[in-house]
Order: sequence, then C-alpha cells, then structure tokens
Amino acid sequence: IPVEPFDLVIFGGTGDLARRKILPGLYRRFLAGQMPVESRIIGAARGDLTDEAFRQMVAEAIAEFVPGDRRDDKMIAAFLERVGFVSIDAKGTGGWDQLAARMRPGVVRAFYFSVAPALFGDLAERLHAHGIADAQARIVVEKPFGRDLASARALNAVLAAHFDEHQIYRIDHYLGKETVQNLMAVRFANILFEPLWKAEYIDHVQITVAETVGVEGRGAYYDKSGAMRDMVQNHLMQLLCLIAMEPPYHFDPDAVRDEKLKVIRALDAPLPEDIVRGQYLPGGGQGGYVEHSENPQSRTESYIALKCHISNWRWKGTPFYLRTGKRLRARASEIAITFKEPPHSIFDDAKGWRENVLVIRLQPNEGMNLMMMIKEPGPGGMRLMQVPLDMSFADALGADAEDIPDAYERLIMDVIRGNQTLFMRGDEVEAAWAWADPIIAGWEARGDRPQGYDPGSSGPEDALMLMHRDGRRWREIK
Ligand code: BG6
Repeated sequence: IPVEPFDLVIFGGTGDLARRKILPGLYRRFLAGQMPVESRIIGAARGDLTDEAFRQMVAEAIAEFVPGDRRDDKMIAAFLERVGFVSIDAKGTGGWDQLAARMRPGVVRAFYFSVAPALFGDLAERLHAHGIADAQARIVVEKPFGRDLASARALNAVLAAHFDEHQIYRIDHYLGKETVQNLMAVRFANILFEPLWKAEYIDHVQITVAETVGVEGRGAYYDKSGAMRDMVQNHLMQLLCLIAMEPPYHFDPDAVRDEKLKVIRALDAPLPEDIVRGQYLPGGGQGGYVEHSENPQSRTESYIALKCHISNWRWKGTPFYLRTGKRLRARASEIAITFKEPPHSIFDDAKGWRENVLVIRLQPNEGMNLMMMIKEPGPGGMRLMQVPLDMSFADALGADAEDIPDAYERLIMDVIRGNQTLFMRGDEVEAAWAWADPIIAGWEARGDRPQGYDPGSSGPEDALMLMHRDGRRWREIK
C-alpha cells in the first residue's frame, strides 16, 4: 500500500547511515511501489555537491548495498529523478533559503537528523526560523539518544522547544525488525501463550544478541559507549519490554508505549555479582578490542551479560538474563522463554524430560521454535524425547520472504504514515537511562575491569557461571 507523497530531507545525507541504510532502503520501497512517484528526497549536508553529483553518490550506494537481483536500471533512474541536494550550514545561514524553496505545499514533510546530536538544536531552530517545518512535519532522530539520563533529557528538551512529541520519531531499529514485531502478534493474537505468560509458569527468559563483527572503524564512538550503552539500554531493553509488557488496550502508539514504560520502571538494577563484562582479546589474525579502540587502557566492555528482575505481579521471581557482545562465535539473536516443569510427572522416564522452550529467532533465519516433549517413536515403550515445532519465515512465506522490508525501510514508511508505535517516546528513553546510569556508575566506582574473551568464543567464562550458579545454562550461540 503506497504511503502519501512526501518531501524527505536527510540532514547528513552524504553520511554513512544515509549511504548504507536510508537511501538504499528508500529505493527498495520505491521499487516495491510503496514510495509514490510524487515524492522527493533531498540530501542536505555541508559539502558543495550539485544535484547530479549527489545522485551519482546515491546510485553508488544502491549499487553497493542493494542486492543485484533488486537493481533495475530503469527503476534506479526513475528513483534518482526524485533525488536532489542542498548544501547547508547547520550552524549558520547558508542553504536554508534554498531548502525552503525546494519544499512543496500539500505533501508530508519529514526531516531525518542523521547527524551528531550536538546539531539537533541548531537544525530544529533553523527549520522553524525559515518556516520549513509546519505543524505536521516529522523529525527522525537516531541513537545514540544521549549517553546518560542528563544528556537524554537535554536532547528531549532541545527537541521539545520546537516540536511536539507526536512529531518526534526516535529510531531504535530493532523495533523495525520483522520478528520483533511478530513478538506482539504471537503474544496478543493467540490465546495459547498468555495464560502461561507469567512467573508461575515461566522459569526464566534469555535474550541474546551476538555479533561476529568487532568495533573496527567505530572505536572512537564505541569506546565512550560500550555494550551497555550501545545495545542494552536500547535494543535489548526494547526486546525485554515486548516480552514483559501487559497487553495494551489497542495496537496504538501511546497504548503500546505506556505499557513498555511500565516495564522499564519496574525493572530492578542487577546486583554487581549479576553483571559480567568482557572485552575481546586479539585472535584470528586480528587485533583485540584495545587495538581497535586505540585505547590501550580501555575498560570499556564489548560484551555484557546480566541478570535482572522485574518487580511486578506478573514477573516476580522470573529472572531475565540478557547478553550481547561483539566478535562472538556467530551472528545470532534470539529470545528464549523457558517454561517450568509440569507439577508432577506420570512417566517413569522423568530423566528424559526437558523444559518447553519458546525460541524466537530474530536473525538470521527468522522464525520460531517451540520445544515440546513427545513420545519417542517406536516400540521402545513410553520414552520421552524433545522435538521442535519449527516455523521459519522463509519457509512459511516462500518467495514473499524476500520482500520483507528491512528495519529502516519499514520505519521510514511509518514516519510518513505518521505511526509512532515502533518509535521510542521521550519518557521511555529517559526511563531506560535512569535504569542504566547507576549500574554503569557502580562498575566505574568499583573500578571493575572487563574479563578478556577469545574472539570466536561465546564470551567470558564468568558469563557461564552467571547461569550455572542458578542451575541454568545459556543456549548455545550458533
Ligand atoms: C547498532 C549498534 O545500534 O546495532 C552496533 O550501534 C550494532 O554496535 C548494531 O552492531 C547491530 O544491529 P543489527 O541490526 O546488525 O543486529
């Protein structure tokens, strides 16, 4: 279904995110017929590019980041006709009149701030001063949204000075992932799970986001951030919220976000002994974290595992184990919900019993698995075995699976539609920082050092202990 025609201005239009994600994503939506031909995309950045030179850059980005079978020369040419460039001085006056002159009446206006947060205020102010942003205009901002509660509040205040909350789209691209949204469908469109979705029946929840990449090339940013700020405060927190939240009364932006906010507020800080931080060592012909970050003294974590609890009726007593790290064995993200044992076993083969586990695979091989106990087939008597009820999106959807938009594509289309459900509200971001800040301050005050781990492993040894101590095990990263 096509969205309304729009003028989308990308500040930072020549930057890495624009090249890798935003522009190729828009092309794919154009190809899919979702971006109407009456739409315009305007790159805005400091450089002195002509429209033609910018189009050339966009064409190169498409060639690099869109798979060959999705590149159609005619469609690319048609897409590029809708692309232009304005050279802009974010802190001065240059370019703003030219930008104003390019905006058309009667179409949706969206402004993507793909720039350093320090420029948000300047951009917001000038958009208003030049009458470019109308009351319906939308602005899109990226993470990192602050690096602690104080800076997040300051950013919220800067934006709030010029825009209403309903105009502000804070991206957490995990919310745009197909399976992440499916979490809500699984929970709230089926009766099957909800009665069991509580501490009484759920033993524990594991959330894993494992990556094989290191921080090469992003060392300067990453070293000031670390896995807690880069991944847990936002992406893992959002996953946890979708698992733990109460059913919203409607699939409506504020109803959903109100419920997520309650989860964040009820989330206890993990105890110091329930946090394991790691840093990858050199190996596999590559430098270790300290070489990549160019800080030999760095205590920043490239891996974190922690156990936390949610203090409310539904979840009292069910631990949530979170872990994420770089340069691990495999790129594998999943949520695993482990149910408790039946109250009484009628089978002699109690040893063979294993827990029911619902596994939601976010990437790769998106899909779901429900681990069930059945009778081992054959004449061997009543012996139990565990088998998966397996659903892979690729199998279920066949060729259509290729047309699933990636997270950025979907989220940008939601901006144009004016649907904020999959975007973080200001109070949500602040609550997530209010949770993370004291945890980070705690390890800084204690002077904790991260434990080294081998690249290609599943993380530091202590992370295994975090589970073993509780008589549980992490699922294998593979
Ligand atoms: C980003 C982080 O937000 O998410 C990166 O800054 C991380 O460090 C990335 O690599 C992971 O995203 P994805 O979609 O590849 O799982």
